[in-house]
Amino acid sequence: MLSVVPSPVVVRAPAKINLHLGVGDLRADGYHELETVFHAVSLTDEVRITPADTRTITVTGPSGAHDRALDSVPLDSTNLAWKAVDALRAHVGGDHGEVAVSIAKGIPVAGGMAGGSADAAAVLAGLVRLWRLDVGRDELSGIAAGLGSDVPFSLQGGTALGTGRGERLTRVLSRGTFHWVIAVAAGELSTPAVYRELDTLRAAERSEPIRRAGTSDDVLTALAAGDARLLADALVNDLQPAALSMRPTLRRTLRAGTEAGALAGIVSGSGPTCVFLCADADHAVRVAAELSGEGVARAVRTATGPVPGARVVDEQTGG
Ligand code: C5P
Repeated sequence: MLSVVPSPVVVRAPAKINLHLGVGDLRADGYHELETVFHAVSLTDEVRITPADTRTITVTGPSGAHDRALDSVPLDSTNLAWKAVDALRAHVGGDHGEVAVSIAKGIPVAGGMAGGSADAAAVLAGLVRLWRLDVGRDELSGIAAGLGSDVPFSLQGGTALGTGRGERLTRVLSRGTFHWVIAVAAGELSTPAVYRELDTLRAAERSEPIRRAGTSDDVLTALAAGDARLLADALVNDLQPAALSMRPTLRRTLRAGTEAGALAGIVSGSGPTCVFLCADADHAVRVAAELSGEGVARAVRTATGPVPGARVVDEQTGG
């Protein structure tokens, strides 16, 4: 029986936090070897994909309104969502026509939360539905890895150990829900620049030792126990000294979060977004309210994790 495919297809994809981000040495291919624990949280981008005569990308804020913070998002072939269309088309062949991609951004741009990767993952998941493709999970993950190190996780979601340059994933056991406060910084940090800064800091290490995260065992133990306090003690991000060196005001943001009562605060990925772990939902609301009053962030949000990866949304039910 022929099923009627709804058009457009709408996909929701999550932001990520790195609960553990251990950065190894620079590889010959320009990437760093990682041991990281990814955790998908409930800040999401919603991506609408519609068949069209020509390719377009449009970007708005979460409610569909224009937002100046989005002006730096490219709307051409340099956008990862655009590249995702090309990559999937090259993989499956055939004539599927063009698409208009409209992105409602709930994830901070260039904020260290894999917003661009979420959009690419959303496009892959959405086109599989729109074009009725028979592409397996591993196959799609391989295409995702070709687009960026975080894209396979944006597809998978949940909580996962990432190795290699972050694209090799193993699901990890995580009990319960963790509650976060997200401090969105004004401005952006470039991921390659933050990795370069870490290399520079490490090269000059004799003056001030730069901590290396070691293994992720403590984070994995805390996740398996579903224990927020244990997790708070285990959070570590090797990129944090580099992000702080490039953006010293983030020290104030981190201090304000812990002074507001958060269990712990950490720079998310390459920053500049800072995330704060809280004991429960009420605690997160209180910390968020206090942090908002400090004026150390452009916006303060609460979020929970883990949440699923890029998923087609049934527009009737919203789920
Ligand atoms: O994989 P992706 O394109 O998202 O990576 C962006 C940049 O971040 C890379 O070009 C590289 O400079 C840096 N990076 C890295 N090591 C990783 C992941 C990213 O050095 N494991």
